[in-house]
Amino acid sequence: RMLKRQIACRSDINRMNAALLAIYESLIPPEEEKAKQKQLLALLDKIVSKEWPGARLYVYGSCANSFGFSKSDIDICLAIEDANIDKSEVLLKLADMLQSDNLQDVQALTRARVPIVKLMDPETGISCDICVNNVLAVVNTKLLRDYAHIDVRLRQLAFIVKHWAKLRGVNVTYQGTLSSYAYVLMCIHFLQQRRPAILPCLQGMQPTYSVTVDNIECAYFDKVEKLCGFGSHNGESLARLVWAFFNYWAYCHDYANDVISVRTGSMLSKRAKDWTRRIGNDRHLICIEDPFEVSHDLGRVVDKFSIRVLREEFERAAEIMQCDPNPCVKLFEPY
Ligand code: GTP
Ligand code: MG
Repeated sequence: RMLKRQIACRSDINRMNAALLAIYESLIPPEEEKAKQKQLLALLDKIVSKEWPGARLYVYGSCANSFGFSKSDIDICLAIEDANIDKSEVLLKLADMLQSDNLQDVQALTRARVPIVKLMDPETGISCDICVNNVLAVVNTKLLRDYAHIDVRLRQLAFIVKHWAKLRGVNVTYQGTLSSYAYVLMCIHFLQQRRPAILPCLQGMQPTYSVTVDNIECAYFDKVEKLCGFGSHNGESLARLVWAFFNYWAYCHDYANDVISVRTGSMLSKRAKDWTRRIGNDRHLICIEDPFEVSHDLGRVVDKFSIRVLREEFERAAEIMQCDPNPCVKLFEPY
């Protein structure tokens, strides 16, 4: 009977894995979308260089970090060398120029936490947000993309987790749940912790890439083509990893004491970071260290209500992965 059960389990796992992989595949943006993004970027480049000849446009966020779904908006950073510029002035000027170039829904949000200009390109149907000199976001986008190249299971796991978070309503920072960026860092850290490890710690290796941005030194090993096959000693399937990920955040993570840190590839203590008390609005109820801005906790948006929502969702997902032989329906059920 035992053997029969094991065999049944194995065929369940295979079926589960195939179903998760099919969802992952369905979320990957098709090539023609990339082409449209390039087309829009070229147009914006032309507009921007008229006014700021030395400036450059960088794509960051999900369209450049390889964790973007089909039909995502583009996040763009306008990098201007001149340190004396007034960001609001630049954004207002930019909004003016975009409007006269027939881009639609142009809106300058100069008071936002990250001030931006929003626009929609009627030609391609793509929406985008442009910010000014947010170079750190461009660098952490590269870090995420570099990690994704090491083992395909990172991209697969992060797609499933992001998809789950969006459908379950726990990817809304203004409601106290986590950003996509935070979820991807949780996935990277989780794969660094598997035994054998599926991902290395790039910031713990001899740097081959180094830039200083806003007085923060960002350095890590970025020759990731040399690391392909790094995780091959670990044969865990996507289904197994999804189960273990939710199980970890539901039942194993020490919320009272631990900070996850992709930078060190290990767990840090809240005490060592002085993240034990509420300071201002930072409550540190779930602690995710930013890989470069190390005083920045990506869990800072979480409050005493949303931490319960989050943990209940982790438990729900873990339960479904544990007990349901066909978990994809329930796991992704809109809340
Ligand atoms: P989706 O748009 O949800 O598909 O994901 P995204 O990858 O664009 O993620 P998100 O909108 O969360 O973040 C966009 C980018 O902003 C990230 O890739 C980071 O480069 C940058 N970023 C830097 N600090 C933060 C932060 O504290 N919160 C968030 N949300 N983003 C940050
Ligand atoms: Mg985005």
